[in-house]
Amino acid sequence: MKIVVLQDYSSLSKHAAALVSEFIQRRPAAVLGLATGSTPLGLYRELAGMVRRGRVDFGRVTTFNLDEYYPISRTNPQSYYCYMRRHFWGPLGIAPGRAHIPDGNPADAAAACRDYELKIRRAGGMDLQVLGIGINGHIGFNEPGPRLTAETHLASLSPETISANSRHFEKAADVPRSAITMGLGTIMRAREVLLLASGKSKARAIGETIRGGLTTAVPASLLQAHPRVTVMLDREAALCLRRG
Ligand code: PGA
Repeated sequence: MKIVVLQDYSSLSKHAAALVSEFIQRRPAAVLGLATGSTPLGLYRELAGMVRRGRVDFGRVTTFNLDEYYPISRTNPQSYYCYMRRHFWGPLGIAPGRAHIPDGNPADAAAACRDYELKIRRAGGMDLQVLGIGINGHIGFNEPGPRLTAETHLASLSPETISANSRHFEKAADVPRSAITMGLGTIMRAREVLLLASGKSKARAIGETIRGGLTTAVPASLLQAHPRVTVMLDREAALCLRRG
């Protein structure tokens, strides 16, 4: 793993944007795997600025999102579909046919998961996967537990994740308990991975991801077995790396 520690969130976002835009300049028709949540917002803002200034063109890029809440409709402003339209697909000019995200309200969830996995394979798999990390070490919605799932699947969210996500919802009852997520195998097949983390709340998970053993109790630790991972952190997220 290549570890890059930046001063703060703003610097983290700029460095991540430089990495992604250089990647797209080298491979204009790349397949990108994308994350939602608070962490990549700065990266997406930086990339949108670069697109506006004509520094990079995402017109030939194909995107696949890691996950979507279940059940949720695409018109729900809390859906990751709405997040992506607002923060990425719209500002970066990704055509609807090139922008993929799991359907949060499918008639048959198992069939929808199989279809999503197949679409990723037909596109040739991800060239670059952008990841955030949960305070419990999850990536996508692959939660800690005795076993992990390889392919895209319907996952139950852990109490820590439900509590962390509750900040985005008005009522506790509205916070989704499940999600459709790429599996660990889907993520590990990406040819390159960029994991971003910011803030003290992520320090322990980052310490365990980088310094701990490979364990299903910290799903992100499996990335140690991936040949091309860059972990970009701000100083607070890197706190547990300094000690010991
Ligand atoms: P966050 O979420 O970027 O909003 O902290 C990350 C995650 O839960 O994977």
